[in-house]
Amino acid sequence: MKKHLISPSIISANFSCLGKDISKVISSGADMIHFDVMDNHYVPNITMGPFILESIRSYGINVPIDVHLMTNPVDNLIEKFIFAGANYIIFHPESTLHLDKSLNLIKNFKCKSGLAFNPSTSLNYLEYVIEKIDIILIMGVNPGFSGQSFIPNTINKIKNVRKIIDNIKPNILLAVDGGININNISSISKAGANIFISGSEIFGSNNYLKIISSMKKKISCNF
Ligand code: DX5
Ligand code: ZN
Repeated sequence: MKKHLISPSIISANFSCLGKDISKVISSGADMIHFDVMDNHYVPNITMGPFILESIRSYGINVPIDVHLMTNPVDNLIEKFIFAGANYIIFHPESTLHLDKSLNLIKNFKCKSGLAFNPSTSLNYLEYVIEKIDIILIMGVNPGFSGQSFIPNTINKIKNVRKIIDNIKPNILLAVDGGININNISSISKAGANIFISGSEIFGSNNYLKIISSMKKKISCNF
């Protein structure tokens, strides 16, 4: 039985009471928290830095947190986010000049590492570094904003990544991020995803427990 985890993206949370909103989503069944970092350079938007992650940890949030760096460059932020409390650091391979080196920076701190692939990014980046990766994140949208529609061809990409993982390193987690909703989560799970990252569908709902339970039910029907 594969692991299936719901990771709400707090980019869509209520920032005027962030700690409280995160606690609420966790008590409603979230397994981990997705922390989107945007720098108004790699993507045309700006979100949160390491201080916010640190304050979330001080508030008492202790579930695993995956930090998704949508920044260019990435190297100088890696250590800062690890010290602030990240469990996973995930970045886009084309956003660093020296991919192997950036992965080593994460591994040196014994943190889990991941690569994120935009809809048009080739999976070839995996070829020489897959042994250093704990999680692969497939984007269902072009990064930068929550609330966008899932790009249908992503399903084929998820299936391809699932084959690569099963053949080469089966313990790599496969996360999908962007455009996940109650209607498409089942096909995303059938294609082979383990981690379902969702922002607007969860935080836009007025009943976190109900939406997360329905998502988990849709996933479990496939197994
Ligand atoms: C997109 C971010 C996603 C996104 C998820 O750039 O990486 O995490 O905000 O939000 P939804 O689920 O609303 O697409
Ligand atoms: Zn993200």
